[in-house]
Amino acid sequence: MVQLTLPNNSKVETGKTWNSPGSEGDWMEFRIYRWNPDDAVNPRVDTYWVDCGNCGPMVLDVLIRIKNEIDATLTFRRSCREAICGSCSMNIDGTNTLACVKGYDDIKGPVKIYPLPHMQVVKDLVPDMTNFYAQHQLIEPWLKTDTPAPPKEWKQSHEDRQKLDGLYECILCACCSTSCPSYWWNSDRYLGPAALLQAYRWVNDSRDEATGERLDTLEDPFRLYRCHTILNCTKACPKGLNPAKAIAELKKLMVERRV
Ligand code: SF4
Ligand code: SF4
Ligand code: FES
Repeated sequence: MVQLTLPNNSKVETGKTWNSPGSEGDWMEFRIYRWNPDDAVNPRVDTYWVDCGNCGPMVLDVLIRIKNEIDATLTFRRSCREAICGSCSMNIDGTNTLACVKGYDDIKGPVKIYPLPHMQVVKDLVPDMTNFYAQHQLIEPWLKTDTPAPPKEWKQSHEDRQKLDGLYECILCACCSTSCPSYWWNSDRYLGPAALLQAYRWVNDSRDEATGERLDTLEDPFRLYRCHTILNCTKACPKGLNPAKAIAELKKLMVERRV
């Protein structure tokens, strides 16, 4: 049997407990991953007891309360608070999702909050998205045309516009890619479901004239074909999109252009 030795700093320690539940109020326990590169110590899980009685209903409301009232050093990303910006993605109760739309009342027992899995951590709940954004850039997510631009706008029929539904709504939260086992092991070469959903969005746009070039970019043993149709991505998407279907459509186009 293969013996693996993990580095000492891979062990997640038990951290500090903040507050204790009072006799009155609606106290809930939140166990949150903490790691600060400046401390040169192992990551830990801190426990925060929060009176949720007069707190908003979402996990993000609790994180903001902890930061404002209990522990100002807790670090996480957020902006819109309504599932538009994609910045508050994290792993809550074992599932990748957006903290601003995940209700803590849905969770039984302590609420466990970790950064998105299999990403380098910048600090606490903040993952390093550098590679993820570079992959998005690689698929060239903008309209590419050879035809000279019309004086006012590129027109599109109502029917062609509808073909972008279920694709353009992606907020690049990375919940899908970081729930994909193929992406966990090959994120240096496999583009992952988020970038591929966007690749399909541009291939499927009636105004775009670079379909062949776009498919050439994906014609690679890893970039597209590392998807093994496991479907974790579709299950994880907090916007209800279906990256696995988009990937299947791309594969179909690859086959069709060969015949
Ligand atoms: S369907 Fe493909 S992209 Fe989605 S989780 Fe599975 S392997 Fe990953
Ligand atoms: S497809 Fe869904 S889960 Fe993936 S990045 Fe876009 S919004 Fe997030
Ligand atoms: S804060 Fe913008 S998606 Fe959650």
